[in-house]
Amino acid sequence: MTIASIRRLSPACGAEVSGLDITQPLGADRVQELHQALGENGILLFRDARLSPEQHIAFSRQFGPLEAHVVGDFNLPGHPEIFVVSNVKEEGKIKGAVYAGQYWHSDLSYMPKPSMGSLLLCHEMPKIGGDTMWANMYQAYNALSDVMKNFIGGLNAVHDYSNAYDTYFAHLKERPPLTPEQRAKTPPVEQPMVRTHSVTGKKALYVNPGFTTGIVGMPREESQPILDFLFRHSTRPEFIYRHQWRPHDLIFWDNRCTMHYALADYDFSVRRHMHRTTIAGDVPY
Ligand code: SIN
Repeated sequence: MTIASIRRLSPACGAEVSGLDITQPLGADRVQELHQALGENGILLFRDARLSPEQHIAFSRQFGPLEAHVVGDFNLPGHPEIFVVSNVKEEGKIKGAVYAGQYWHSDLSYMPKPSMGSLLLCHEMPKIGGDTMWANMYQAYNALSDVMKNFIGGLNAVHDYSNAYDTYFAHLKERPPLTPEQRAKTPPVEQPMVRTHSVTGKKALYVNPGFTTGIVGMPREESQPILDFLFRHSTRPEFIYRHQWRPHDLIFWDNRCTMHYALADYDFSVRRHMHRTTIAGDVPY
């Protein structure tokens, strides 16, 4: 069996998959094909995915076990597998994680086993703005000099969830610091700076501005300029696909070979409401 239709979205990354009924079980061959297509394209777009929370969970589970977000307040009541990304306020309370992902990051890179992939389903979107961008980290790695590839190829970097709270969220009352319990669940971890994709076998750069705070064995004075260069390099426009959401778009992205950024360029009084499932991954190597 082959995927009915797959169309590349940009030279950087992304492909649109059509002709599949994703409300029904896919079967092992199809799942395998989609795993391969994901690893090759970095993101897969499914249009008009009118999925209930149960269907969204069932579709996602075919690609691996799901995990609940460490900040439980953002999980959908009754469905802890769904992380709500939203600015919608009801009865004075925001219904999910507001300002989520408004910095370059790869989901859960701060955990010993970061997420393999995430599936974000768009329910409501402002008419203008609120796009998401993905960077192709294979291309970023390939475009480095051999000297830089050799240098970082043997190094590990430190990833820390609280970095996002200390920097990007520091001024936001809606994103108070992590509680001691949440902090205890997310101590800093070390990850290889270059990782090998377990499906394609290709190498990808694996550092991100959201969570990567240092290089193991180097003082900050030495590591920060290297990280700053790698962050700048990996977000070169030619490595980026920018998606303009329509309601019922479902995007499945690969956290092993992409990082992403949610643009905060829209009127925050207009509703932007999304549901995300997060698939467990392996220890990077
Ligand atoms: C996320 O990082 O999961 C959120 C992305 C988005 O809201 O576009």
